[in-house]
Amino acid sequence: MTDPTTQDNGSATRVALITGGAGGVGRATAVRLLLQGWHVGLCDANADRLATVGRDLDRGAGHVLEIVADVRVVSECGDAVRAISEWRGRLDCLVNAAGIWTEGPSEQVTEEEWDRVFDVNVKGTFFMCRSAIPELERTSGSIVNLSSDAGINGFPGTAVYCASKGGVSLLTKSLALELAPRGVRVNAICPSDIDTPMLHYQAATFGNGDPEGYLRNLLSLYPQGERARFIKADEVASFIEYLVRPEAGPITGACLSIDFGTTAG
Ligand SMILES: NC(=O)c1ccc[n+]([C@@H]2O[C@H](COP(=O)([O-])OP(=O)(O)OC[C@H]3O[C@@H](n4cnc5c(N)ncnc54)[C@H](O)[C@@H]3O)[C@@H](O)[C@H]2O)c1
Repeated sequence: MTDPTTQDNGSATRVALITGGAGGVGRATAVRLLLQGWHVGLCDANADRLATVGRDLDRGAGHVLEIVADVRVVSECGDAVRAISEWRGRLDCLVNAAGIWTEGPSEQVTEEEWDRVFDVNVKGTFFMCRSAIPELERTSGSIVNLSSDAGINGFPGTAVYCASKGGVSLLTKSLALELAPRGVRVNAICPSDIDTPMLHYQAATFGNGDPEGYLRNLLSLYPQGERARFIKADEVASFIEYLVRPEAGPITGACLSIDFGTTAG
């Protein structure tokens, strides 16, 4: 009988867990990893969207596991990792792509809004990492956290989101140092605006009724002038795919900017 965790060449099939798996970056990353022969656990709080994406990507192959979980809840982070180990008996990488956006004048920020953003972006990312450490240590695996250009530079009207992504950048560096002696690499990706549902939610919610104007205004901040464009989710996924490869062995503790130079100044 063929061992389901073994590829034709006899090497173990690598297994990824992707939070925010029903979203733009999570889905694109899953596509890339599946094409490379990985098996992928897609974790998301949105059960309906997760079911659609899971069905779409797997098409009955049995290479995708859908895991409904809210990363704000510590026990659900543990359950998600447990579901993966029970499924394939190993975990080679964790991609933390669950995240939410907020913006607006700081004097109008509520405690509820602050907690919501920090619970998903910082607490969720950290406790997913915490839950996955023992499994990743066994496989000398790695973690990729989705930070942002807003996790490197400040931007007006986004203090809460920037603070949360700054937290992601620094927890990434700190974990990288802590886990280096145990063979686990931890990196962050720091993209500028990516053409995903999050970006269109931003434009629809915070664009004062003019989402196109909102998007044009974002692009006007890029150094490319008329050549400015948004990043494609697959472009971000290609860097994530690189970071989890063995060739990326020397890279840990990096906050990799993919931002057309928006944080270069
Ligand atoms: N889109 C951008 O412009 C952009 C830019 C820089 C960084 N990022 C970051 O990249 C990551 C991916 O963003 P995206 O653009 O794919 O967004 P997206 O909105 O398309 O996907 C995010 C996913 O996270 C899920 N999610 C939200 N809260 C959750 C929770 N509590 N538990 C589990 N899942 C939850 C959502 O259901 C959604 O499917 C996020 O961390 C985001 O902050 C996005």
